[in-house]
Amino acid sequence: MQRTLYSPRGFVSQNIVYLSNQDAVAWLREQPAESFDLLITDPAYESLEKHRAIGTTTRLKHSKASSNDWFAIFPNSRFPELFEETFRVLKRNSHFYLFCDAETMFVAKPEAERAGFRFWKPLVWDKRSIGMGYHYRARYELILFFEKGKRRLNDLGIADVISVNRIRGGYPAEKPPEISEVLIAQSSSPGELVGDPFMGSGSVGAAAVKLNRRFSGNDLNPQSLHVAAERLHTLGAACARTNPATSAPQTLLEIAALAHDRR
Ligand SMILES: C[S@@+](CC[C@H](N)C(=O)[O-])C[C@H]1O[C@@H](n2cnc3c(N)ncnc32)[C@H](O)[C@@H]1O
Repeated sequence: MQRTLYSPRGFVSQNIVYLSNQDAVAWLREQPAESFDLLITDPAYESLEKHRAIGTTTRLKHSKASSNDWFAIFPNSRFPELFEETFRVLKRNSHFYLFCDAETMFVAKPEAERAGFRFWKPLVWDKRSIGMGYHYRARYELILFFEKGKRRLNDLGIADVISVNRIRGGYPAEKPPEISEVLIAQSSSPGELVGDPFMGSGSVGAAAVKLNRRFSGNDLNPQSLHVAAERLHTLGAACARTNPATSAPQTLLEIAALAHDRR
């Protein structure tokens, strides 16, 4: 069911999601300039490949939700085009959050700054329990906080450490939606459009729908589209199109079924 709500900008359709299944940069290039209010994303970094090579991500390779062994890696050498497009599609005065490990942060931060972003600080996702690794086993991940123009956070009292238990046995490298709920509540308003070019299980979309934001998500992996479309349908997302610019409306269940056949 589609709900509408009155906001200062007029009537806004709630719980609308748009889903797409292609390369992240190609998807961003299709989006109009200054069309997103907020982007939160979690690319498949090269460093994940390194962890896999030394055998520390077996759990991720054989997750219950995935029939694929793994997903494609997005090479660090593509950060310039990714951040350039991310900057272009974000509205003036908006935020961009990038999930990241410490190794990738040193590469990603200067590239995002070159694209025009202001870097504020890394936020810490505290997973509350130790995970993989052989020395100083990993208990946290980083979320780099960038700004285009100037946008005030909605609550200046929120800490830079977000403590949420990790997800076990989900989509590979799935993030708990509670993290994105904090970021979305801080950096957007109801009815605004939140995007994720590497959506995986759709955790950012789930948080957006819960908080009555619109969501536009993409992932190269058809398995992601299948999982995310079903999940967003279950959460009551009302309407979806594979590509807002060109495609006819489809229901989330139609998208999930098509993606299931392509896996
Ligand atoms: C770390 S996962 C995202 C997990 C997600 N944040 C969640 O909570 O489920 C990274 C995703 O990037 C996708 N991916 C890898 N290369 C891509 C590309 N070139 N374009 C779009 N998606 C890509 C993978 O298929 C994978 O689903």
